[in-house]
Amino acid sequence: MCGIVGYIGQRRAYDILVQGLHRLEYRGYDSSGVAMISDAAELNIYKSKGKVEALEHFAANKDLSGTIGIAHTRWATHGEPNDTNAHPHFSQSGRLAMVHNGTIENYSVLKKALSAHGYTFVSQTDTEVAVQLVEYIMDTNHCSLFDAMCEATKRIVGAYAFAVIDRQNPNQIIAARQSSPLVIGIGEGEYFLASDATPIIEYTNKVVYLDDGDIAVIDRGAELKVFDSKTTSKSRVEITELQMSIEQLEKGGYPHFMLKEIFEQPKTLADCISGRVSADGKKITLSGVIEHRSKFLKTKRIIIVACGTSWHAALIGKHLIEEYCRIPVVVEYASEFRYANPVVNQGDILIALSQSGETADTLAALELAKSRGAFVFGICNVIGSSIPRATHSGCYIHVGPEIGVASTKAFTGQVTVLAMMAMLIGQMKGTVDDATLERVATDIRRVPTLIKDIFTKNDKKIEELAKIFTYAHNFLYLGRGYNYPSALEGALKLKEISYIHAEGYPAAEMKHGTIALIDNDMPSVVIAIKDNVYEKTVNNIQQVKARGGKVVAIVTEGDTIVAQMADYVIEVPEISECLTPLLTAIPLQLLAYYIAVNKGRNVDQPRNLAKSVTVE
Ligand code: AGP
Ligand code: GLU
Repeated sequence: MCGIVGYIGQRRAYDILVQGLHRLEYRGYDSSGVAMISDAAELNIYKSKGKVEALEHFAANKDLSGTIGIAHTRWATHGEPNDTNAHPHFSQSGRLAMVHNGTIENYSVLKKALSAHGYTFVSQTDTEVAVQLVEYIMDTNHCSLFDAMCEATKRIVGAYAFAVIDRQNPNQIIAARQSSPLVIGIGEGEYFLASDATPIIEYTNKVVYLDDGDIAVIDRGAELKVFDSKTTSKSRVEITELQMSIEQLEKGGYPHFMLKEIFEQPKTLADCISGRVSADGKKITLSGVIEHRSKFLKTKRIIIVACGTSWHAALIGKHLIEEYCRIPVVVEYASEFRYANPVVNQGDILIALSQSGETADTLAALELAKSRGAFVFGICNVIGSSIPRATHSGCYIHVGPEIGVASTKAFTGQVTVLAMMAMLIGQMKGTVDDATLERVATDIRRVPTLIKDIFTKNDKKIEELAKIFTYAHNFLYLGRGYNYPSALEGALKLKEISYIHAEGYPAAEMKHGTIALIDNDMPSVVIAIKDNVYEKTVNNIQQVKARGGKVVAIVTEGDTIVAQMADYVIEVPEISECLTPLLTAIPLQLLAYYIAVNKGRNVDQPRNLAKSVTVE
């Protein structure tokens, strides 16, 4: 939700800011803007509704000089996406410029108080209230920008990552963090600031992740200083080395990041498994679990909290852990859990599952569970993000940066980690015998090759199939057991990138109501692989066919029964049942992708969405 970039050094700030905004555009793309203190000591703000490209057009003939600046790409929460509400925002006198990621809960109270002091507001944003508040404090207390920021953050309730510059001091950026991420890159005599490391990696791999309550003072040519905003005492600056490469952030010849990320899965899953499943399939190593062995052995219950696609992966995790570890698992939407006054017992384990590691609801749910005595474990992709930093232990999925807003490789990474966890915990508890471990672990190692196989045999076929269904208005996705969540995920993929309405359903539940929707115009995508409910799913397909519905079936290679009754079949190789979602996900992702492309949709940045949802 929104991206922030900042730069101070010797180069022209504008170039670095705009390049950084492009990298962060996946986080929000309602509007974008830059603020630079020019060589003539002017504070120039240029901003524009729409994508970063629109900003570049707008700024083309302006004064782009200056070696200090801040920038923003927005996902609107307060006020419609237009030029005025775009960030950066000026303070009343035009002295300060601020960018903000997050939401200020008490902004209307603050706005009222500032209005009473003669402040006027040009935008509807909560952010403008914050920058006015900082200037008000500077003026009334006759204090520095740093002191005013410390004071302002005490009065502001909500989530924020702020970056502020002051026209009167072209040598300093002040940044503050509470619940929204901020990373500072340390170069040679220059500093970079961003919501995540992607705008920084091409300049330096030395970064400092700010913690909640931190205020950073980034002075030109001086040492980076980080303070605790409440006590104003200096904190230790911990430098981390980034393990990311610039190629991971490029499209690499693909038309969209989403397609690149779908096709990357053989490699990303190989990375995810690497060093964790032994070559002979006899041993699984996940240090985050092993180090807390007794917690996993003793627990009476595991709660998994997540949102969206991660929630679907969590449902598969529930099947895996219950089947192989015999531990009851509850899967909750993080947004529901955090406000439900949930029962959390000492000894419960809460798993927070999140690609970005920044999802506000998931983070809040884990904090709540932690405060009630749960052991909290994170499964995330973005290294150094907020969730891994807030948990007792965890496990990264290691699939590399996911840029497309629709999650693909993160989903399969999450399911793979959950499968490895289930096997490992099961082995530790004695609920998984050696033969089962070896069979499943060996199959986990086969997944990358099998996915490659699916691409070779089915990519073109699915592209053709997508042409037939591009103009359908509704879709039903049906699956059972391990592949019921796959059906939910298939439907979500289609909805979010093609804007076609789709419902995911447990195949057998359909007859309790949804079946009334079936007619010739309502295609059903049915996952009918050879699992323990295969015959039942075959019956469900017949029920759809009997009502004139069209069926696209995802089947196990060599299936002849479903092939006779479905209108179209897509084959996936045979594998242990608990791992089938890793294979069935592939055709579902490709189908959604090609339909969305046929419809001319913006696949990587679908309307109304953002990659990291850091607001409630
Ligand atoms: C997936 O395609 C979505 N865009 C979305 O549902 C996403 O999975 C959700 O917002 C959770 O994100 P997280 O995994 O980063 O927490
Ligand atoms: N609340 C601010 C706004 O609506 C910032 C939103 C964001 O994080 O992009 O402008």
